[in-house]
Amino acid sequence: MKVLVSGATGFIGKQVVQFLQGLGQIRVLTSARNEAKLKQLGADYIVYDLDQEPENCYERLGRPEVLIHLAWEGLPNYQESFHLDRNLVNHYRFLTSMIAQGLPSLTVTGTCYEYGLQNGCVQEEMPADPTTCYGLAKDVLRRRLEALQQEHPFRLRWLRLFFLHGPGQPDRTLMAQVNQALAAGREAFDMSGGEQLRDYLPVAEVAALIAKVALQPRHDGIFNICSGQPISVRRLVEEHIAARGGRLRLNLGVFPYPAHEPLAFWGDPSRLRLAVAAFEEEQNHAANP
Ligand SMILES: NC(=O)c1ccc[n+]([C@@H]2O[C@H](COP(=O)([O-])OP(=O)(O)OC[C@H]3O[C@@H](n4cnc5c(N)ncnc54)[C@H](OP(=O)(O)O)[C@@H]3O)[C@@H](O)[C@H]2O)c1
Repeated sequence: MKVLVSGATGFIGKQVVQFLQGLGQIRVLTSARNEAKLKQLGADYIVYDLDQEPENCYERLGRPEVLIHLAWEGLPNYQESFHLDRNLVNHYRFLTSMIAQGLPSLTVTGTCYEYGLQNGCVQEEMPADPTTCYGLAKDVLRRRLEALQQEHPFRLRWLRLFFLHGPGQPDRTLMAQVNQALAAGREAFDMSGGEQLRDYLPVAEVAALIAKVALQPRHDGIFNICSGQPISVRRLVEEHIAARGGRLRLNLGVFPYPAHEPLAFWGDPSRLRLAVAAFEEEQNHAANP
């Protein structure tokens, strides 16, 4: 099977490629704009800017059977209008062209910000209610792709990712900043109150889940990519520091809680578990036909 990963050089993309390479029996194709970064992945690659005219894009990108579409530009800047004005427009144009030209199965990464300010355990069937341009762009992209299914039959898996940490995390992220403070031998670390409940997973685990949902044969639709286990940000940071044998005093309450996030929310992983079980079943069947 040929699987194309767009945005393969990103924080998550690198790990998705690594997971797919470990599966065997899959030809992994990768794409992004920066050739030097693509080369480092050790997979077949096509330099491709999805803002360009998508003429013959399916052919040029190697006619994959599955596209795992991770590319997205300009993160985080959640309230900037380019998510709607540029990304939504260009990504829809690219994905529509891929499908019209023959792509049979599409997996796209959305975000937990599609749920907006809803507190508690969020489930896929709850109405989306985004409050950021980023969340809105992703939600509209999903709806437009669902509408496209009336015209072209294709499989669509829409993955709402929650919070991630791990190797390669951008410097701006909380855990990267904690690591920097530890490495610099600082005594104290300024943060928010830390009482907010979040759903965090290591990036390698998220990457494996993305690939499993994309490759399983049975379930379509929306999936939360989450642990289902809320943890306070304060505890997450304290555990992270303790696991590294470090010492860092937390200056809690220095920064306000982000206005675009509810105080306590986490994902329901029930649909995700069904998809992962379908993947494992398929793998077992392939190993013991
Ligand atoms: N990281 C998170 O915590 C998180 C949480 C929820 C959802 N997500 C979603 O997960 C996906 C991956 O996130 P990430 O953190 O891995 O992002 P990232 O590190 O910023 O990587 C973005 C990738 O997209 C490529 N890209 C950007 N613009 C492009 C263009 N015009 N044409 C072709 N490729 C382009 C980049 O490569 P080049 O610049 O070389 O082209 C890079 O490979 C995104 O869709 C994001 O919305 C991420």
